[in-house]
Amino acid sequence: MPERLRCAVIGAGGIGLEHLNSLSQCPRGTAVAICENHAGRAKEACDRFKIPRSYTDYRELLEQADIDAVTIALPNYLHAPVAIEALRARKHVLLEKPMALNAKEASKIIDTAAKMRRTIMVGQNFRFNRQTQMAKMFIQRGDVGELYHARCFWWRRNGIPRIGSWFTQRKFAGGGATVDIGSHMIDLALHLFGDFEVVSVSGHTHSRFGQRGVGEFNWGRSEIDPAKPFDVDDYGVALLKLKSGRSLSFEVSWAACQPPDAREYGVDLMGTLGGISLFPARLFRNGPNGYETTQLSAVKVPHPEDRVHHFVNCVLDGKKPMVPIEESLRVQQVLDAIYTSASTGKEVRLNSA
Ligand SMILES: NC(=O)c1ccc[n+]([C@@H]2O[C@H](COP(=O)([O-])OP(=O)(O)OC[C@H]3O[C@@H](n4cnc5c(N)ncnc54)[C@H](O)[C@@H]3O)[C@@H](O)[C@H]2O)c1
Repeated sequence: MPERLRCAVIGAGGIGLEHLNSLSQCPRGTAVAICENHAGRAKEACDRFKIPRSYTDYRELLEQADIDAVTIALPNYLHAPVAIEALRARKHVLLEKPMALNAKEASKIIDTAAKMRRTIMVGQNFRFNRQTQMAKMFIQRGDVGELYHARCFWWRRNGIPRIGSWFTQRKFAGGGATVDIGSHMIDLALHLFGDFEVVSVSGHTHSRFGQRGVGEFNWGRSEIDPAKPFDVDDYGVALLKLKSGRSLSFEVSWAACQPPDAREYGVDLMGTLGGISLFPARLFRNGPNGYETTQLSAVKVPHPEDRVHHFVNCVLDGKKPMVPIEESLRVQQVLDAIYTSASTGKEVRLNSA
């Protein structure tokens, strides 16, 4: 293994540029190539980050022996096929969320990574947020006692990615708000619980704004085709129950008529001795002076790097990532279950992980 990990970024859209920016500041990693099939975005990324090589076909990039790892920032339907080919080509893989279109694809990624003995990690950036890490430290220290319930939410009022892009077509995205922003919040809440043993999911979805062309926000750099139908959800809600007896309520919207003064996204955790809330990280307790709210602060957090730097360090040091891939599979199973429950009207039982 070289001293600095030689990385390539596949997909130089909105998030691919963030990966490149992170790699440009990475002490132990560097971007040596990109793959992007849109000529303008490829040139922009190479010029901005001084990347020497650019490919339009990811298979050609994967043949290059001087690339150790790839980060995948492609539309969701390409996550599993490209990750699997990259692992087979002996590259380590950092994959954007959601892990795949469904749990079957996600399991194939895991099997390939195990067979090829490569590092695979889903870039759940909220886990690397300083506020999250402080909350996790206080939970692990026992400040809130035993956690029994949490609610996680992301209420966008006007936040549908560009309508007509891959984001709003089910065959390319796998789903709408539930997979896009819901994958962040479910992962974050279960991570803070320290418990991914979800055993049942009851969910529902709506598609109320995008179909009318209302509620769009300017995210995503890929081309749009206004003629393509908006066939994903712009609202999702679910109740999850865990083997431990814990429960989690979940609610996300890409667009909704909601009060503008509420927090946009976060997790509120309830424990027997206190509660913890994100964002920002606050602790609530009944103290000697009544009900107290404390802003959490900590000098040090366990993982002060961002997700890309963390991935690079894990590969070079042979360490297990802070986002274990089995947990990402569980999140994918929960997302699948929300849609199954929504379409059947029934609670979905999940097998033990
Ligand atoms: N972690 C986060 O907070 C976060 C935020 C936004 C998006 N994402 C995820 O990142 C991924 C990409 O999202 P985005 O917002 O960057 O989308 P985007 O549409 O802006 O970018 C996707 C890029 O991939 C390129 N592309 C498509 N097919 C290709 C192929 N076969 N070969 C090479 N390039 C190809 C497109 O030309 C485009 O430039 C998605 O999975 C999304 O869910 C994560």
